Amino acid sequence: MLSRFVLLFSLLLCSLAANSASDSYTYANYQQVTVTHLHLDLTVNFEQKTLTGFADLQLNWLTDGEKNIHLDTRDLDIDRIYAKDSAGNWHKAAFQLAQRDPVLGSKLTISPAFQPQKLRIHYNSAPEASGLQWLSPEQTAGKTTPFMFSQNQAIHGRSWIPIQDTPAVRMSYSARIHSPDNVLVVMSAPNDPATARDGDYQFYMPQPIPAYLIAIAAGDLQFKAMSEQTGVYAEPYILDASAEEFASTQAMIDATEQLYGEYRWGRYDLLILPPSFPFGGMENPVLSFITPTVVAGDGSLVNLIAHELAHSWSGNLVTNATWRDLWLNEGFTSYVENRIMEQVFGKDRAVMEQSLSVQALQDELKVLSANDSILHIDLQGRDPDDAFSGVPYTKGQLFLMYLEQQFGRDKFDRFVRQYFADFAFKSIDTETFVNYLDNNLLQQHPGVVSLEQAKSWIYQPGLPASTPAPQSDAFNQVEQHASNWLAGNTELSSLPTASWTVHEWLYFINNLPLSISTEQMAALDNSFSLTTSSNSEIAHAWYLLALKTGYQQVMPQLEQYLVSIGRRKLIIPLYKQLATTPEGLTFARAVYQKARPGYHPLAQGSVDELLEK
Ligand code: BES
Ligand code: ZN
Repeated sequence: MLSRFVLLFSLLLCSLAANSASDSYTYANYQQVTVTHLHLDLTVNFEQKTLTGFADLQLNWLTDGEKNIHLDTRDLDIDRIYAKDSAGNWHKAAFQLAQRDPVLGSKLTISPAFQPQKLRIHYNSAPEASGLQWLSPEQTAGKTTPFMFSQNQAIHGRSWIPIQDTPAVRMSYSARIHSPDNVLVVMSAPNDPATARDGDYQFYMPQPIPAYLIAIAAGDLQFKAMSEQTGVYAEPYILDASAEEFASTQAMIDATEQLYGEYRWGRYDLLILPPSFPFGGMENPVLSFITPTVVAGDGSLVNLIAHELAHSWSGNLVTNATWRDLWLNEGFTSYVENRIMEQVFGKDRAVMEQSLSVQALQDELKVLSANDSILHIDLQGRDPDDAFSGVPYTKGQLFLMYLEQQFGRDKFDRFVRQYFADFAFKSIDTETFVNYLDNNLLQQHPGVVSLEQAKSWIYQPGLPASTPAPQSDAFNQVEQHASNWLAGNTELSSLPTASWTVHEWLYFINNLPLSISTEQMAALDNSFSLTTSSNSEIAHAWYLLALKTGYQQVMPQLEQYLVSIGRRKLIIPLYKQLATTPEGLTFARAVYQKARPGYHPLAQGSVDELLEK
């Protein structure tokens, strides 16, 4: 009796453990069957805004009893499905597309009469696919050629591929893509810069990756090499400027290899997207996708490249198993990014970047719920896009900086390097990391950091008292100068602004008091032309301050800014601020009417919601 109870109890515990680690954002029955290789044969149709063709899914069965395969889809039009038996014969398979869930999309259940080796799914994507943006020639810089690109993370891959859309499952992939022959197609797989531009492109990605890292883009793309291993794909208008801006990429790879071990992906190229790209960057393997808003002319925003490159270790090599574990991807990556910046550009700049991130996090923590400030976040069934914040990034980074400070660089660097080696090409959850940390660092050096302390960083809200506080001498000086000027003790013209970097400007603007007068704002603007700054981050910081302090002179430039770029981090805070006053809201709605057609579906979704309320 007792032993039966114990057995039952331990079974219950097991299923709870399996549950807590399972991905609630997929319909896939990946405990029973996994996709090991994906082959796509798709035609890019710019007139209809569709990808049309078929996907072959190579399957690995983990159980005997099951024959059904559940996949993720969203707004896919499924035409017919075939299943291949062990003798190599194809049979038509029954399937059912369940009702659409607003967050998860539609579960696709395929019911062959046997356990198939392979599936072939004929389908097409919808023009409004959440993971694709289609730009008409008029919406591109060159005005002659259309453009299309994907953005799969977190759960948008299912809007153009019927797939097990969970980061817990990894697969190799190949693709044959048909397109008009005036566009070049590139993917997150080795690309051949010298490929014939004939509208028939083939790709093979041998490394197993999760579905969120499969990516495609097509447009009037040209290639320029930056080094033997690195290069840029971009539309002609920005090709040379990009190659120049990101010339430090090779040095970044070299630095990261030195710190954390071999770069495992062969080439590393950058793809510069149109300004509507909704993120700063996306770490698609072999080919990071990059916003043109970081092509600043002075290399001031290249930490973004360090960030996307760092994901080649944290994220693409060692992957979060579920979106609750996003901090394993983004916290590690923010930490590694900053180590790369220190290595390549020196400590002063690295500390300035830490300080700017920490300030932004502190501002965000004021408005986030306590639960959303936990690294191992409870997403509570929300759309993962809606729960996005600086917490997994900067709190995650601070946790790792804390460990580095406590154990010293030697020991901590060795630990991180071994972590990347031990979990290479694996997907892991937070609990697995905690155990690994305990066994390989905490217990190796007892009395430095306890398991309880480590766990409180991961499972408790807010920032612990032991949070590292980056100290930048340069920023302290900026602060001195700013308060002298604000107090009327110095003239603007005697501030040493000629030697200020973009970071110092950002710190200066971000820390001006909201009580600053319109005259003082105008004085700054007259001296430094902040309203017309061509640096996207400086302009953003200035417009936000102008809106908060009622400095109206920025409005025409602000409109221009909101219409010409679609990077969410830069536009959403501005719309949010505008929406706090009736006049602002009216202005925002008018501008958005012009801007909306050029925005990505993800940006449209966010701004729609903001301005409707
Ligand atoms: N992987 C992220 C972008 C992302 C995260 C997309 C979660 C969808 C869901 C990318 O690496 C990233 O973090 N980009 C940042 C870069 C910045 C922190 C340097 C961005 O886009 O701003
Ligand atoms: Zn990232």
